[in-house]
Amino acid sequence: MAVIGIMSALHEELSAVLADMPDEQRVVVAGRDFWISHWQGHAVVAALSRIGKVAAATTATVMLERFGVDALVFTGVAGGLGPGVRVGDVVVASGLMQHDMDASPLFPRHEVPLYGRALFQSDAILSMQLTEAAQQVLQAAGQHLGPDTLAQFRLISPQVHQGLIVSGDRFVSTTAESQTLRQALPGALAVEMEGAAVAQVCLDYGVPFAAVRTISDRADDAAHTDFNRFIREVASRYSRAILLQWLTQRPVD
Ligand code: ADE
Repeated sequence: MAVIGIMSALHEELSAVLADMPDEQRVVVAGRDFWISHWQGHAVVAALSRIGKVAAATTATVMLERFGVDALVFTGVAGGLGPGVRVGDVVVASGLMQHDMDASPLFPRHEVPLYGRALFQSDAILSMQLTEAAQQVLQAAGQHLGPDTLAQFRLISPQVHQGLIVSGDRFVSTTAESQTLRQALPGALAVEMEGAAVAQVCLDYGVPFAAVRTISDRADDAAHTDFNRFIREVASRYSRAILLQWLTQRPVD
């Protein structure tokens, strides 16, 4: 049976997914928790990467080497960069880049040395399936979050976007920095701290990768007063609902 890996940086981001998993077995490898389980008939391993590219790359490597996952999905929160990418929207990565990679003048800015590329594509089929699942969930956002949460976080008709996610070892929390990022990478829809590293590891191993991120802030001076509450009450519930919807529709193989 194919094994699906699910990763988030923080426990809060994965809490609703873990709460939903039956027959959990927890294994600790490299100081990280890995939960081996079944969800909707699929064999699943869920893990917390911690924050940042190196921590995420280590976790992804354990997922692939030790648990032999056949596909890896990263889910969690991100800061919105693209115009119209609002708090409460979901971004599914079509590809990922490291915004802080710069080995110039030896290599072009953003290119990962010796990979001959800056952009790491996510798996097209996985990403399309997750986009459809996210659309179905967000159309019924009120059912998943409740009207009070929608009102509290002022979530009005949340949207799903598909496009470039950029990753770097920095929480982007000033308007000046997010503007600089937008200028350097005009196509970027969202910024986070792990995805591009995991995409690179998955490319190394030839394993399909996808990333689904709920926008928690606009990566600006207002990012983010209610960060932890937003993750608990919105992002973690979206992650659970989107993955559940996806797995329900995916044949067990
Ligand atoms: N994850 C969520 N918001 C973020 C931000 N503004 N910068 C980096 N990672 C994030």
